[in-house]
Amino acid sequence: MIDMSVEIAGVTLPNPVMPASGTYEVDDLHEGFFPPSELGALINKTIFLHPRPGNPPPRIWETPCGMLNSIGIPSEGLHKFLEEKLPRLRSLGPPVIVSIAGNSLQEWRDLAAAIDESGSADMIELDLSCPNLEQGFIWASDPQALAEAVAAAVEAAKLPVISKLSPNVRDISEMAVVAERAGTAAVSMVNSYLGMAIDIRTRRPALGNITGGLTGPAIRPMALYSVFATFQKIQVPIIGIGGIATWRDAVEFLLAGATAVAVGTQNFVDPTAMRKVINGIAGYVERAGFSAVRELIGLAHQPQSA
Ligand SMILES: Cc1cc2nc3c(=O)[nH]c(=O)nc-3n(C[C@H](O)[C@H](O)[C@H](O)COP(=O)(O)O)c2cc1C
Repeated sequence: MIDMSVEIAGVTLPNPVMPASGTYEVDDLHEGFFPPSELGALINKTIFLHPRPGNPPPRIWETPCGMLNSIGIPSEGLHKFLEEKLPRLRSLGPPVIVSIAGNSLQEWRDLAAAIDESGSADMIELDLSCPNLEQGFIWASDPQALAEAVAAAVEAAKLPVISKLSPNVRDISEMAVVAERAGTAAVSMVNSYLGMAIDIRTRRPALGNITGGLTGPAIRPMALYSVFATFQKIQVPIIGIGGIATWRDAVEFLLAGATAVAVGTQNFVDPTAMRKVINGIAGYVERAGFSAVRELIGLAHQPQSA
């Protein structure tokens, strides 16, 4: 029997595969494809404190090997999430990660404290790619803003905090170091890459918001490199995200140094993708002669044996 469990900040995940925030809903439709209880962890689409609409349409544009989205995180707000979504997530079995986004330091504190007090989450993930409304740029793009947001959430909650980092920075591994110093218990990387498309029929930007986030296999080599470059700079675990479509991709991220992986865009292509990734990793671990999946973590950093 292969031991597929991994540990993130003292929380044991039955296996290292989870959805990436915003790409998988726990609802009747998805439960029809495979039981979400098979996942290593569950996560919601990021919630804000107050209800808000998303960006104007069109919000999705297909690109070679991926997609651009400018959904803009429509949110039903904290209150409705606590009443309706969180109990369903909690009832399914796997550890629950609640993804939050604050527009100000006070919102990070309020959200983190409320999730903590709900007693229904195991970890909190900070979507640091949302804008700091007081300063007009995204939290994850500035070391000081990043450190302040992470510290605010860490102080407000007893639960472990995961910092989800943006690749739209000079050096994401340095941002991981900043998040670690501010008290994060894990980092997840990467969120989407900033991009755009132009509709040549209308001769205007294709997305209603003009820019969008590029995701899917197109970003995988860059996301993988982010994990590889960060692994030896921090002590806290990394959740690897970016273009994972198959178990082979997931194994690459584990070898690069990720303790767990999240599948995003591929869930729209194949709603059973995560189940295939879990089973495929287990088969690989067994064929390679290991007894536990955690033996793979970071192996690509070891010097080549003769
Ligand atoms: C339609 C869509 C919605 C997303 N919504 C969120 C979100 O609410 N919060 C978040 O942290 N990331 C969000 N993301 C980013 C994903 O969680 C993930 O970081 C990104 O898609 C890269 O992984 P992938 O290439 O496997 O899709 C979203 C991505 C997509 C495609």
